[in-house]
Amino acid sequence: MLVMSSFHAWRTGCFSVTQKSAVHFVPTMGALHDGHGALIQAARQAAGDDGHVVVSVYVNPTQFNDASDLSKYPRTQDADVDLARCCGADAVVFPTSEEMYPKGVPGRAEPSDYGALTRLWEAAHRPGHFDGVVAVVRALFEATNPVAAYFGEKDWQQLAVIRRLAALEFPELDVVPVPTVREEDGLAMSSRNVHLSSEDREGAKALYSALQSVVRSDGADEEAQKQGELLEQAGHRLDYFAVVDAETLEPKRMQGRPGRVLIASHWGGVRLIDNVALEG
Ligand code: PAF
Repeated sequence: MLVMSSFHAWRTGCFSVTQKSAVHFVPTMGALHDGHGALIQAARQAAGDDGHVVVSVYVNPTQFNDASDLSKYPRTQDADVDLARCCGADAVVFPTSEEMYPKGVPGRAEPSDYGALTRLWEAAHRPGHFDGVVAVVRALFEATNPVAAYFGEKDWQQLAVIRRLAALEFPELDVVPVPTVREEDGLAMSSRNVHLSSEDREGAKALYSALQSVVRSDGADEEAQKQGELLEQAGHRLDYFAVVDAETLEPKRMQGRPGRVLIASHWGGVRLIDNVALEG
């Protein structure tokens, strides 16, 4: 497996491979866990023996609306290389900010307006976040020119935003969703979970239980309301807990369309997000 410090070096270092092979791309910010492992394995399986699976690791400053979140973000370069290798990657690239933002890292990325997708939920609570995600993912797609790119369903709204970006600017690209990987007690795997104390780690699983209760009620708003109140009584500070249309993310669900239950909560000094599917 190649480990490269720039896309330039990767393109040069495996010129013959990338000339012939379709690139299957897994963009990450590092601190890789089994959720990322599932993305890399899905890419490996789709790429087969001929395709080229490339993982990028870049902690993108423009998508952090909170400076302390950026400075605390875990960086585990050696372990990331090991995990990527075990899961079948052909190359891991650690690009620099100079390569990702040749004109300098902007204080805030150019705004992207995808309607409700860039206005509601995460967008409302993390101003500028999706502008940064769109800017860096666009640059990553341009650098890797993939046939397929793999994203976790855990960041459901990010997935919807990237699907829209691809539809508008990279119509040939296949955006492949990969189901959320959970700990045994249901907590969605996340790079930020390492910041939870063992006591807070125990209370964090309540998020998934609450989501499941809403699924059992077939997405009833009253159940979401009740579960939200129970979480708040237990000490969670919710940013949102909502039943939405799975594609548009509008809060109104139309009969027969797939829905999604979305949640974001501050708990134990960590901001946790999760979501689950509702059948149409
Ligand atoms: O999901 C992530 O890890 C990041 O948001 C991404 C897609 C790699 C862009 O920085």
